Order: sequence, then structure tokens, then C-alpha cells
Amino acid sequence: MRPGYRGGGVSDSWSVLDLLRWTTQYFEEAGIDSARLDAECLLAHALGCERLALYLEFDKPVEAPERARFRELVKQRAGERIPVAQLVGKKEFWSLSLEVTPDVLIPRPDTETLVGVGLELLPDLEAEASVLDLGTGSGAVALALASERPKLTVTATDLSEAALAVAEANALALGTAGRMRFVAGDLFAPLAGERFDVILSNPPYLRDDEAASLAPELQREPRGALFAGPRGTELLFRIAAEAGEHLNEGGRIAVELGLDQAEAVRDAFLASGFASAEIHRDLAGHPRVVSARKAPVSKGE
Ligand SMILES: C[S@@+](CC[C@H](N)C(=O)[O-])C[C@H]1O[C@@H](n2cnc3c(N)ncnc32)[C@H](O)[C@@H]1O
Repeated sequence: MRPGYRGGGVSDSWSVLDLLRWTTQYFEEAGIDSARLDAECLLAHALGCERLALYLEFDKPVEAPERARFRELVKQRAGERIPVAQLVGKKEFWSLSLEVTPDVLIPRPDTETLVGVGLELLPDLEAEASVLDLGTGSGAVALALASERPKLTVTATDLSEAALAVAEANALALGTAGRMRFVAGDLFAPLAGERFDVILSNPPYLRDDEAASLAPELQREPRGALFAGPRGTELLFRIAAEAGEHLNEGGRIAVELGLDQAEAVRDAFLASGFASAEIHRDLAGHPRVVSARKAPVSKGE
């Protein structure tokens, strides 16, 4: 590290731009992919401003107390590989600012495909409908749906009580808590006898043996949010087998999955008696979501 940056007295006049340039290079050398973006997010956090405000203040000197706060964040990012979202305690998802802690998966842009499919399944802005988000984590999917469709009632579940506390705090902060319910338990176990119009889920879908090859940042996220078992499809197959009992007639389900799992999961829904099942691609063209429709009641019944 440059001596003045280390906290000594050589350079007391570091500007915003100096710090961003130095830190970006430092992060690049440490093998961090999004070096410049991470430097900007951490500096904005240390200064207590929005990231884009940095661009209006490139020449502004950064005072010693803020530099000290920033230095600590930089050390944790590069040395301990703590994700930026955990260092700043929040992450943008679907234009919502969500609190995140080490108890929840950091919401991913990939999951916005699932939200998009969910909204297609609920096209009427003003319709009343019941939605279940299985494995809600920070509440990302449930909250995106609740914020887009003001008449929905949303049930959000998770095996992790600690994750549910974060999701509930996010719902309170976003003003949707009055239409939401948070339930702890294993998949559908706490929902005996309940049925919904739409079920959404982004369950864990990594194989256990993928752990060793993952970026160090992923080791900082809850294992139970990432890994499903030796095959990776364990939870997805359980959801396909059990979801029919928890959907109203004609109800729909959509699940996020790994790129090589789409066909097997689509077939699992069809084998469980769903009337139809479809693969949806993300913006990069990768199969990312499978949706399925439960048969409506036939006229003769
Ligand atoms: C991949 S994370 C998704 C979190 C959030 N929905 C999102 O998209 O950002 C999966 C979530 O499912 C939860 N989970 C794992 N196994 C579960 C189970 N058997 N029953 C209910 N929730 C489970 C995890 O605790 C985690 O919060």
C-alpha cells in the first residue's frame, strides 16, 4: 500500500478520484472481478453518499476519518473476500434496496428473470391473488412481486429463522408487511392444507461437489441457501412433486434453476401431473426458469 494511504502522514490530500484509482488497481491485483464498481460502492458507503454522487466530487479531498473507514472496508473486501453487499449491508434488487446480512443469499440479477415470469403469471395489476415464495431468503422475490402488484397477499417461507427475520425487516421498510406473512419450515411442511394462485421459488440448486470450485465470496453466504445435495436437483424435484397439492385449480408455479437442470425439472412437473410446463430463458439466452400450470377443473367435474 502507498505509505500515505496506510494512514501515515506522507499524503494527507487524497481525493475521491485518487482513492478510486488506487483501490481499483489494488482490487484488480487481488483478483476481484468488479474492481472499480466495488471501490465505488465502498467509498460511497464510507462517505455516506450515493455511488453516483462520487462522480460530482472527484476532486474533493477525503478527510482522515472517512479514509480510515474506507481503508477498513478495502481490507475486508480484498483480504477476507467479504462481498460488498455484506460490507455495506444492502443490495439493489428489482429497484428495491434490500437489507442483507450473512444469514441470507445476496439477491442476484439472475433472479430478476424469475420475478419477470412471476409478473407474467399475474398480468392484472389490480387483481387480488395469493402468492407463495418458497425459500425467501432476504425476501427478494416476494418483495418484488408485492411491490409491483398492490393487491397480492404474499406468504414467504424459509427453513432459516434468521433469514425470515431479514425478509420481514425488509417488508417493514418497504411498507408491504401488512400483506405478507413469514413462515418457517421445510418447503411445504408448514403449509398443510393451504393453496395459492401462484408459487415462486429460487431454491438451492448447486451440487455439493461444486463447493470447492466456487469463488471465495460464495463461502461467505449461507451454505443452506446454495447447496441442494449430491445432484443439485433435490429440492427442485421435491417442489415439482409436492406443489400440485398447494395450487388452486389452474394455478401456476415458476422455479429458478441451474443451466443444465431445465429439461429434467420441466419433465418432473409433467410427470407430477401438471397440464403444461415451459422453459424460460434469461437475457443472456440461458435456460433459467421453468414454469408449470396445474390443470383447471374440467367442466364435467
Ligand atoms: C437460493 S436462496 C434464495 C433466496 C431468495 N429467494 C433469493 O432469490 O434471493 C434459497 C433459500 O431457500 C432456503 N431453503 C433452503 N432449503 C430449504 C427448505 N428445505 N425449505 C425452505 N427453505 C429452504 C434457504 O435458507 C435460502 O434462504
